[in-house]
Amino acid sequence: QTIWLKDYTPPAYLVESVSLTFALAPRATRVVSKIAFRPNPETADRSFFLHGEQLNLLSAKIDGKEVTPDVTEDGLTCPAPDAPFVWEAEVEISPETNTALEGLYMSNGMYCTQCEAEGFRKITYYPDRPDVMAPFTVRIESDLPVLLSNGNPSASGDGWAEWHDPWPKPAYLFALVAGELVNHPDRFTTKSGKDVELNIWVRPGDEGKCAYGMDALKRSMTWDEEVYGREYDLDIFNIVAVDDFNMGAMENKGLNIFNSSAVLCSPETSTDANFARIEAIIAHEYFHNWTGNRITCRDWFQLCLKEGLTVYRDQQFSRDMRGEAVHRIEEVLALRARQFREDAGPLAHPVRPESFVEINNFYTATVYEKGAEVIGMLKQLVGDEGYAKALDLYFERHDGDASTIEDWLKVFEDATGRDLTQFKRWYSQAGTPQVRVTDDYADGRYTLTLEQETQPTPGQSNKDPLVIPVAVGLLNPNGDEVQPTTVLELTEAKQSFTFEGLSSRPVPSILRGFSAPVTIQKDSDDAERTFLLAHDTDPFNKWEAGRTLAKSVLSRMVLNGETAPTSYLDALRAVARDDTLDPAFRSLALALPGGEDMAQSIFALGHCPDPDAIFRACRSLRDAIAAHLSEPLASLYDQMAIDGPFSPDAKDAGRRSLRQSALSYLTRLDGGERATALYAAADNMTEQLGALASLIANGHGQSEVQSFANQWGHDRLVMDKWFGLQISHAQPEEAVSTAEALTQRDDFDWKNPNRFRSVIGALAMNSAGFHQASGAGYAFVADWLIRMDEANPQTAARMSTAFDSWRRYDADRQGMIRDALTRIGDRPNVSRDMAEMVTRMLGA
Ligand code: ARG
Ligand code: ZN
Repeated sequence: QTIWLKDYTPPAYLVESVSLTFALAPRATRVVSKIAFRPNPETADRSFFLHGEQLNLLSAKIDGKEVTPDVTEDGLTCPAPDAPFVWEAEVEISPETNTALEGLYMSNGMYCTQCEAEGFRKITYYPDRPDVMAPFTVRIESDLPVLLSNGNPSASGDGWAEWHDPWPKPAYLFALVAGELVNHPDRFTTKSGKDVELNIWVRPGDEGKCAYGMDALKRSMTWDEEVYGREYDLDIFNIVAVDDFNMGAMENKGLNIFNSSAVLCSPETSTDANFARIEAIIAHEYFHNWTGNRITCRDWFQLCLKEGLTVYRDQQFSRDMRGEAVHRIEEVLALRARQFREDAGPLAHPVRPESFVEINNFYTATVYEKGAEVIGMLKQLVGDEGYAKALDLYFERHDGDASTIEDWLKVFEDATGRDLTQFKRWYSQAGTPQVRVTDDYADGRYTLTLEQETQPTPGQSNKDPLVIPVAVGLLNPNGDEVQPTTVLELTEAKQSFTFEGLSSRPVPSILRGFSAPVTIQKDSDDAERTFLLAHDTDPFNKWEAGRTLAKSVLSRMVLNGETAPTSYLDALRAVARDDTLDPAFRSLALALPGGEDMAQSIFALGHCPDPDAIFRACRSLRDAIAAHLSEPLASLYDQMAIDGPFSPDAKDAGRRSLRQSALSYLTRLDGGERATALYAAADNMTEQLGALASLIANGHGQSEVQSFANQWGHDRLVMDKWFGLQISHAQPEEAVSTAEALTQRDDFDWKNPNRFRSVIGALAMNSAGFHQASGAGYAFVADWLIRMDEANPQTAARMSTAFDSWRRYDADRQGMIRDALTRIGDRPNVSRDMAEMVTRMLGA
């Protein structure tokens, strides 16, 4: 059944306060609730409905008198007074058998919760909607030593603990944890002098993997004070690491719960990429305390209100920590890989969706990452000062509210005087706009003409022009910048902008810093791209020039059987040799687009992508680069080695990254000599795994694969990498059989979402392996999605997006994917999550 944004109605009853008592037991946890309700003065509706799913209701009372509610699959109704009253209920639930990992469940003997979006209704009967906010008091009874919930600890004794959260919150921010845990403690003093106790709680044995997460937390707290003026608001902030978790992490008030992969790390067990991701997720969840918790969402259609803004904030933080240009490039790589793909296929939806069947299916790249891009555009349009004013007003006006996108835009209008009526279309219109650029030069006057167009998406055939900030700069033919970055505001379908007083025809640098989430079409030739790669002063566009050049070269290799032109190889060699460039930047510039990226590009050129042909072209380009750049790559490999102890900081990570890029090419030439030596000598996971990846990708490393498993068999997070790596670097024709063999192992604990993703997800991302013409990849993934859907619909439905780009491919592949999707969707016990995904992917 479909839920619509336009059908929103306010709740009939509001909650004054909630008191919960949990008597924990693996298969028979008792939850006693005492909830003070009052009629909502904003509505005349007096129907009393409480959500509740998979609950065993033992008793219910209103104002102390037993009542017999009308109970259905999704909740209960009951006659209720048109005046304040107290609801009391007792239910029984079974955390141990909860494999969906939603509501209260168990992971390695520890109790934990995940309530966003609609999991609280699996804990007790409640108006489980974010516009119902209340202070919670929670009592936990259990023999387990550590008992945690939201807010501040208020009392405890032998076998029980009580917590009180004074900040009214929606039920999706509720959390409870109980287990045999140890903590990594620290403290933080806020700007106004409040002393806060900090803890990261982990299973015994993981204590050594908390220091970096704690450091990232303290840096996040400081950053939010300095940049947004936001302070923490409780006496204690707890983070818990959990091995079985559907997503990355969750911002429960005062008690963030993390997938252990998103918080635990050490130099020996974690890569630089892991450190960077952990820093970003810690920041993200912490920043939610203001953007999400203090100001929450009125309903789930407004999800981007908290997620888009919080992603934008964590990106700003990461740019400050790791360097603006390099981080921006990484943001854009991720956006194109996931969000552009989503926007171009059957799952395209607006940043603020208008309908859904299962909200868990809308925790998407569009809501999160495009949602963040929309805020970045807003900031460019109103300027840094306007943005700061608007945000201050947002916190002042809406603290304690459950808000909407309309509220959000209104603070910008009120703070800056700018009319955002047209800008608002970014929230309602799906699809990636294409901006076509043509130019003209005569008599010292240069004219840029920009045309925008957005292709139809499911349910939206007509698209209106958007407000698109296009940052441009101009270079003269000898490479000097003659027009520094200026932001053109494209508001019409077609618009021209002129620049006067130019002594010669300039070379334009368009969409600097990736100022809008659009694609650019311009009849540039490789000479212009090569020029920009060498001369652009905007680091993003310098990289982008190299990227479009690589895509253009690869497309011609795939489509016309050409070989890599020397001019391209020379340009890349110049980048490799340019010691004035940051190593991290050089590493990004030397990386080639992958299979998925090229499939997107070739499809955009109007051709049906052949994953095998793409794979072969990429390999042949890698060989050409390795041969042409062998000398600078070999010296980079030596030059980028780091003496002294490991530091996860951005500077050293950049050097390791460049060294690894060099190694991945050199391994094609040296028979694996360098990688074998590095593997043997490595004292950190970045180098150990990088060396192993280079070996596997080039058909070496059988003994290293073995010794790695012997060395790390005890460490789940490291073994997830080991599973994944063998599949992501497998040759196309071996990827499925490798994945199949790995699923036969005893330690393939498929109900663990991380392990499942490390195999099934890795195969789906090995483009040429997944899309093998035999259809073996499709069948394998479909079988596992069916199995997982029965245990954990959320994780299965999320991974089903492996099939979302099916209409790009040839008729045979399309037929096989359609069959796979039909097989998944036609089961009598298909979950609501999966049914919705399959229906959307197959199209009406
Ligand atoms: N709010 C969490 C985050 O972004 C994500 C939780 C989503 N959970 C889910 N089951 N959909 O930080
Ligand atoms: Zn979030």
